[in-house]
Amino acid sequence: DRSIKIAPSILSADFANFGQEIRAIEAQGCDWVHVDVMDGHFVPNLTFGPPLVKAIRPHVKTVMDVHLMIAPVDPYIDAFAEAGSDVITAHLEAGPHIHRTLQAIRAAGCKAGLALNPGTGIEDVEYLLDMVDLVCVMTVNPGFGGQKFIHSQVEKVRRLREMIGDRPIHIEIDGGITPETAPLMAEAGADVLVAGSAVFKGGSVDNPAPYGENIRAI
Ligand code: DX5
Ligand code: ZN
Repeated sequence: DRSIKIAPSILSADFANFGQEIRAIEAQGCDWVHVDVMDGHFVPNLTFGPPLVKAIRPHVKTVMDVHLMIAPVDPYIDAFAEAGSDVITAHLEAGPHIHRTLQAIRAAGCKAGLALNPGTGIEDVEYLLDMVDLVCVMTVNPGFGGQKFIHSQVEKVRRLREMIGDRPIHIEIDGGITPETAPLMAEAGADVLVAGSAVFKGGSVDNPAPYGENIRAI
């Protein structure tokens, strides 16, 4: 389905060549570029902060989709906005004031995303629906690429799509997306699929054609 957007996660790219990797995946037809920010506290892994996001910004011609797996979030929103994020996604579980966080993301001029861990229900999304441009359903426990898709989240996405109705809100899926799991989520109502290992496997900046084949296979 061509209305489904593919957002490769650069967590699976060559960290020594982010600029070239981003140009390669965009040339191979990806729709968005997904940037996983981890703090070693909210999730058990560390990646990168606003200076790196700013450094890669000129290479991203599509949409820079920044997924913050950090707590607290609020002190860093302006820095990630100024670094050039188009979408900033914060986790519902990252603190007691997600409503304020989403307000702050929009006030900083970005689209606001709300991420849910696999163990989190969709009830708490209801009163946030007029404040979000995207809901990200995690289909692995966040922290690492290459984990196994959690199937219980298909039903969650179906119910979330029902709750969202006609509102212009993207449903993004993050974790374990492959050519096998992607159709389940497209059918359940998702429209943005993040994929790390499934996009970057078999390719490199010197041999980017597999990226395109992988994107088209999803
Ligand atoms: C997980 C990250 C994901 C991850 C996806 O914490 O948020 O974006 O990189 O990687 P794959 O597609 O390999 O599961
Ligand atoms: Zn992510």
